[in-house]
Amino acid sequence: MASGSHATLEVRKLKKNFLVGKEEIPVLKGIDLKVDFGEFVVILGPSGCGKSTLLNTILGLEEPTEGQVLVRGKDVYTMDEDGRANFRRQKFGVVYQQPNWIRSLNVIENVAFPLNIAGVHHHTAMKRAKEILYLFKFDKYEKYYPMELSGGQQQKLSMCRALIANPWIVLADEPTGNLDTITAEDLMYDLKVLNSESRRTIIMVTHNTDYERYATKLIYMEDGLIKKIEQREKPVISQEEEEQVIDLAEEGLAK
Ligand SMILES: Nc1ncnc2c1ncn2[C@@H]1O[C@H](COP(=O)(O)OP(=O)(O)OP(=O)(O)O)[C@@H](O)[C@H]1O
Ligand SMILES: [Mg+2]
Repeated sequence: MASGSHATLEVRKLKKNFLVGKEEIPVLKGIDLKVDFGEFVVILGPSGCGKSTLLNTILGLEEPTEGQVLVRGKDVYTMDEDGRANFRRQKFGVVYQQPNWIRSLNVIENVAFPLNIAGVHHHTAMKRAKEILYLFKFDKYEKYYPMELSGGQQQKLSMCRALIANPWIVLADEPTGNLDTITAEDLMYDLKVLNSESRRTIIMVTHNTDYERYATKLIYMEDGLIKKIEQREKPVISQEEEEQVIDLAEEGLAK
């Protein structure tokens, strides 16, 4: 079990309403969730049940109507928007269903981009981008522009970019949604290695029940609520390993 006095992520009594016209629509209706360090969480649930809203709230992008999001005991919404943006950059990597790279930058420049905005020296940013491309066996595409890549390759680019600052939590919202089965398996394999070898905590939303097998914790959502949580495994991670991953993220944005 993960050590330390706080869960890596804790969501407490979370509610989120959206105002549509004059009507307040409840979308998250009271979510309680704890994620330990090194878990691979898979979230399943019908379209519209609130999965993406939950991820966005965890990321600090959607202020909850009620309740709290705590990352290692830190209440995310006690910070202002800039504070949350910095926090997010350092702790989280995000992969979406639609790749969201910048068209006018080539692969390596896209991967380096989050470091550039964080003010990391250009040379250092490019060096780190090269390392991560190499790690994912994608370095031979470094000079390609995103539009010259296949869907699977574009998703690999999104993944490399999400990981450039060594985040300890990777959130993936239907990352395989637009990929064929083989390419999707390839991406799932990358996520699995990232989880089991690099000790990153993964929280992934999917519609594909085939991917239940990757989960240490399986969550079924329905209509704004968690209907069932299945703890399949408890990751065994030492305090030392946990600290190493966290230090790596601190260094990830070092200038
Ligand atoms: N900004 C918003 N304003 C109003 N309603 C919203 C907003 N964002 C989401 N919703 C509503 O909240 C509900 C949940 O949306 P969400 O995107 O979280 O679903 P989801 O579970 O991710 O679905 P899918 O599997 O289709 O991606 C939907 O009914 C949606 O219309
Ligand atoms: Mg969604």
